[in-house]
Amino acid sequence: MHKSNHMALLFLAGGICLSLTLGPSSSGAPASHTGAPGESTCAKSGCHDDKAINTGTAKVKIDPGTTGPYAPGKTYTLSVSITDAGSKRFGFQLTALDSLNAKAGKIKISDAESTQMLHNTFMLQDREYATYTFGGTGADSPGKKTWKLQWKAPASGTGPVTLYAAFVSANDDETDKGDHVYLHSIKLEELK
Ligand code: HEM
Repeated sequence: MHKSNHMALLFLAGGICLSLTLGPSSSGAPASHTGAPGESTCAKSGCHDDKAINTGTAKVKIDPGTTGPYAPGKTYTLSVSITDAGSKRFGFQLTALDSLNAKAGKIKISDAESTQMLHNTFMLQDREYATYTFGGTGADSPGKKTWKLQWKAPASGTGPVTLYAAFVSANDDETDKGDHVYLHSIKLEELK
C-alpha cells in the first residue's frame, strides 16, 4: 500500500479514537485542557475560541481548604468556584502537579452528581483531572457555581504543588461559541 494511503488511514484511526474519547464536552471537558504545562485549554482552536482567555467578567477561585502550606498525606476539601452575573451554565477542569509537572497527590470525587474524574488515554496518562458532569454545569444560584472535591496531599519531600484549573462561563446555547474561558492556578508549599 502506498505510504500516503497508510498515513491517511493512521490519521483516520487516530481521529475516530479521539472523538470517541472526547464525547460532548457539556458532559465533562476532554482531559488535559487545564492550561497546565504540556496541556491545552478549553479555548483551543475549534473549541470555545471566539473570545480571548481571561477577558470576561467572571471571577474564578480555587480554595485549597488551607490558608497555609499543605501537610503531606492530609486530605483536603477543595472548593473550585466561579461567579459571573447573568451566566447560568459553567464548567471547569482541575489537575495537581509537582514542580517536575508530575501528578501530585490524589484527587477523590466526593460529589459524583456534579463532578467526575478523568484520565487522558493518549498522553500525560499519569495525570488526574477533576471536571464537571452534565448535571454539574447548572448555576447553584444566579451567576454562581462551586464544585467540591477532595485532594489527598502527596508524601513528604514532594515540595511545592500547583493546582491548575480552566473554567468556562457559558451562554447556555449548548454550543461552544459565545462562552468565556478562564485559566487560574495556585501554588501550595509543603509544610516542613
Ligand atoms: C476545561 C475545558 C472546557 C470546559 C470547562 C468546557 C465547558 C463547556 C460547557 C460549560 C459547555 C456548555 C456550553 C453552553 O451550553 O453554552 C460546553 C459545550 C461544548 N464544548 Fe466545552 N469545555 C471545555 C473544553 C472543550 C474542548 C477542548 C472542546 C473541543 C474539543 C469543547 C467543545 C464543546 C462543544 C462542541 C460544546 C457544545 C456541545 C455540547 O454541549 O457538548 N469543549 N463546554
